[in-house]
Amino acid sequence: SSSASSDVDGFIGCLSAGIPPSLIHTPAANSYSSLLMSSVRNLRYVLPGTTRPLLIVAATEPAHVQATVVCGRRHSVRIRTRSGGHDYEGLSYASVDPDQHFAVLDLAELRAISIDASRSEAWVGSGATLGELYYAAAAANQTFGFPAGNCPTVGVGGHLSGGGFGALSRKYGLSADNVIDAVVVDAEGRLLNRSTMGKDLFWAIRGGGGESFGVVLSWKVRLVAVPETVTVFSIRRLRNESAVDLITKWQAIAPALPRDLYLRVLVQNQQANFVALFLGRCGGLVDTMRGHFPDLGMTERDCQEMSWVKSTVFFFYNTADRPTEVLLDRRSANYYLKVKSDHVAEPIPRQALEGIWTKWLEQPEAALIMLDPYGGRMGSIPPSATPFPHRHYLYQFQFFSFWFENGTAALERRLSWVRGVYEDLTPFVSKNPRAVYVNYRDLDLGTNELEGNVTSYAKARVWGEKYFKGNFKRLAAVKSMVDPDDFFRNEQSIPPLPAAK
Ligand code: FDA
Repeated sequence: SSSASSDVDGFIGCLSAGIPPSLIHTPAANSYSSLLMSSVRNLRYVLPGTTRPLLIVAATEPAHVQATVVCGRRHSVRIRTRSGGHDYEGLSYASVDPDQHFAVLDLAELRAISIDASRSEAWVGSGATLGELYYAAAAANQTFGFPAGNCPTVGVGGHLSGGGFGALSRKYGLSADNVIDAVVVDAEGRLLNRSTMGKDLFWAIRGGGGESFGVVLSWKVRLVAVPETVTVFSIRRLRNESAVDLITKWQAIAPALPRDLYLRVLVQNQQANFVALFLGRCGGLVDTMRGHFPDLGMTERDCQEMSWVKSTVFFFYNTADRPTEVLLDRRSANYYLKVKSDHVAEPIPRQALEGIWTKWLEQPEAALIMLDPYGGRMGSIPPSATPFPHRHYLYQFQFFSFWFENGTAALERRLSWVRGVYEDLTPFVSKNPRAVYVNYRDLDLGTNELEGNVTSYAKARVWGEKYFKGNFKRLAAVKSMVDPDDFFRNEQSIPPLPAAK
């Protein structure tokens, strides 16, 4: 907590020396609420009782970010960096701890994208959204793609910091696997790039989760090759058709499919929706599905051929009947949200899936369940190559509960549904520790406590090893090197590694 010692007036005075006053939004300003809400995705973290920022800096230049860090340190005001605001636990704009006083450093205006088509590379500002990146890549060349998430309003800054998984990951890995340089403002307010930040910090920012190591201003990424025409399908099966059988088989089949085929399952309203992206034409997809998964009964009639960029529209809206320009729309639906996630190493037996369906999926609080296959490139990257260690699982599970009605009753029902199903899955999912992807932030796993003036490493291991396994210690060692005073801190930031005794 910094409440006791923060000097907010001094902080504002210091900021004003380097940042135009119109970019510093205090709660007294009319602009404060709309700016705060501009990229809030989880309404749970704007309910009364959550701590709001002391002020918001809407940076438009790297120097504004440097000034915010320097002034924050000088006047003991902590900073939460926000790029796209999609953190599941609202960590970029709110705190559940009333003693955590902080300013939000909003990067939405730092979203330039410049493409070097001859080298298939791009520099992307952290404030850009995935949709803006997809759109810009395709506008430069229809055969450019980028492996990242399936939701176009997710911010590049948080997403690449935590990994970045999506429809191209079986072929090309995570977003973070395709980062080749980055510009970071460190805890001293210095601007660093790959060669000046050193190997360890460059390793840590590519998957170690946002906030802990500094503020990443921009990323140089490798654009990947996609064909001019790709094919998608969405095939729904009801429970009393064959949904449970198909999911049972899908568990072993999907991770072993050729890398050009990504086949996920969305379970909602008692239906399983099998959604595919194939990097090729309809004919090739039909052949592949017949060879690997005939039971799904996919035929030519299910094919929808389109450009890759259009497929990113399809993956979010479940229809391609929208112009590609929807990718540029930064607004997104607001709802109350709780997500828990897991990984699966061995197919769950049919009977167990049937039992879970009977007990949980018929309830009105049932969440959207997403099953996303790994395998392919995901499984061929060593777990220590980046902080993201969960490379060898068959697939990831997400219980994505979102609702629109306010009130504690609705909240409690949803939370207990998600937590209950997570508990019941214990025998069938990852173990020792439960493996969780840091971009699916979950404060149920544990939150930080202080030991002296810094975050406790021993306490943080409880949640940290679930996200990072053996990489957690290395992340803490990097933290000790780059931010030994633990300035960049939140409920689940990486703690400095205590000196060996
Ligand atoms: P936000 O701005 O909230 O930041 C997240 C965290 O990173 C915060 O702790 C923040 O302080 C920190 N941070 C942000 N910018 C930073 C910067 N520039 N430098 C340092 N730290 C920074 N994931 C996935 O892999 N695949 C998917 O398909 C999806 N889909 C999806 C859909 C929806 C609707 C949501 C809400 C989320 C997802 N995600 C996802 C999860 C997503 O990848 C994750 O929430 C990202 O961290 C979001 O990045 P933002 O910049 O939007 O978040």
